[in-house]
Amino acid sequence: MKPIIKILAFSGSTRKASLNLKLLNHAVAAAKEHGAHVTHIDLREFPLPIYDGDLEAASGVPRNAMSLRELLLAHDGLLIASPEYNGSVTALLKNTLDWCSRPADGIDGLVPFRGKAVGLMAASLSPFGGLRGIIDLRGIMAKMGAVVLAEDVALPSAQNAFDADDSFVDPNIGKLVHQFAANLIGLSAKLHPEIEK
Ligand SMILES: Cc1cc2nc3c(=O)[nH]c(=O)nc-3n(C[C@H](O)[C@H](O)[C@H](O)COP(=O)(O)O)c2cc1C
Repeated sequence: MKPIIKILAFSGSTRKASLNLKLLNHAVAAAKEHGAHVTHIDLREFPLPIYDGDLEAASGVPRNAMSLRELLLAHDGLLIASPEYNGSVTALLKNTLDWCSRPADGIDGLVPFRGKAVGLMAASLSPFGGLRGIIDLRGIMAKMGAVVLAEDVALPSAQNAFDADDSFVDPNIGKLVHQFAANLIGLSAKLHPEIEK
């Protein structure tokens, strides 16, 4: 039997009541329903200093970045939900990606990202749904060698998008997220044809 698609999911916000986490939870559940194995991590559990070349020269890549690199290497696709801060990606997300892109253990820095399927989502308070952050993140991930899914999910006015039980107020959003998750798994499978869809 072929191995199953493995997706690593994380949010660019570590806030407990994060709207992006709520959105991500739906995509994680949908990806599982579509047969993927999903590892959902919280970046709060992988704290990193702001990237500093002198720190790297003195102490190497921090342990948490090494752990993240190992997780990235062990998965076929990435599912990222992130707020946009001032029209771009959050510092947390960019700093995490920067550390993870450093060469370590004799492995080129971009190997954990190269050829990897990536699905991007955003939830924001604004009517733009964090779309500007998604556009910037699209460019960053492409520069790192990842293959970004053409479709994305930008959830506007996200403070009004969820019920008290975190279900979507508008069931059409749920359908959209399901299709998005299916598309990400499909892209991951195309990039790794040896893996079962
Ligand atoms: C520093 C900062 C900058 C922000 N900039 C934007 C922005 O450019 N566009 C936007 O739609 N929302 C912006 N917001 C509001 C976020 O959409 C809102 O805080 C959102 O809830 C963050 O996502 P989270 O709930 O997943 O933590 C900003 C918030 C912060 C803290």
